[in-house]
Amino acid sequence: MELKEEILKELKKSEYISGEELAKRLFVSRNSVWKAVKKLREEGYEISAVTNRGYCLKGDNDKISAGAIMRNAAREREFYILDEVSSTNDYARQLALDGRDEAVVIAETQKLGRGRLGRKFYSPKGCGLYMSILCRPRINVELAPLITSYTAVATALAIDSLCGAETKIKWVNDIYMNGKKLCGILTEAAFDFEGGTVDYVIIGIGINVTGREFPKDISDRASSIEKESGARISRNDLAAAILNNMDGMTEKIGLKDYLNIYREKSNVIGRSVKVMYGNSSFDAEAIDIDDNAALVVKTDDGVKKLNSGEVSIKI
Ligand code: BTN
Repeated sequence: MELKEEILKELKKSEYISGEELAKRLFVSRNSVWKAVKKLREEGYEISAVTNRGYCLKGDNDKISAGAIMRNAAREREFYILDEVSSTNDYARQLALDGRDEAVVIAETQKLGRGRLGRKFYSPKGCGLYMSILCRPRINVELAPLITSYTAVATALAIDSLCGAETKIKWVNDIYMNGKKLCGILTEAAFDFEGGTVDYVIIGIGINVTGREFPKDISDRASSIEKESGARISRNDLAAAILNNMDGMTEKIGLKDYLNIYREKSNVIGRSVKVMYGNSSFDAEAIDIDDNAALVVKTDDGVKKLNSGEVSIKI
């Protein structure tokens, strides 16, 4: 473990701890402690230094901060916490192009937040969690389409555990509560075609946490965790819970066990749906989700498997 990680661990244990005490506990010089704290601050950890008391890992308020996320996170990560950005997915892509292997980008607001199928993602300041996870999972290209459904399960379970109410997943990437959309996921990837592997993946997760008012064009179907469950949850705790649930994705995704939860949480299986596929649309009954996370539908022409597209649930 690097010194900065050990220091972070100690900071998480106590409210204040002096440089001298840290140096003693970790068998290093005070100067090394100071340098490691500087590095952590550069990575976005909010660490204050108070005379006669020592260092303190901040982040109890709900402003997004790496320190507050790390209080509940299972392992260290590189965070980029931004006040404003065009899209966290774009920022993460630039990090990938610059050669980063892993990073988490979170913004208080996005000016050009994007959803699937070229849609905008409404990202008002301070009300939501707009997070992109950059990773380079060592998985074969065939498993890559499962990343979105894996993330949907990780995110839905994190929301459930914090707000005490139950989310549903609308194939393929939306999380709902009480029939309203709380969250969307946009996964973007680059592949190494020759090696048949994934180069990098950017998993963008947008969650309405506290918002109550939504623009006219989405107000009939969008809502927030607070509005639907009554729970005011911390965005930092939510980010940590999602990141913890995402850990181990590379090993677990191929086992496909998580798909059982995905099916249990599905709000489309057994429902009449309208399928939008490219420029066409047709009516069907959603009957299952297969082991490739494809939606299985029954139509007048027989059973079809949908790997992409979108469905709306018919009332
Ligand atoms: C959808 O609803 O179709 C997907 C929405 C994904 C939104 C998230 S917010 C963080 C990341 N940055 C973006 O621009 N989009 C994703």
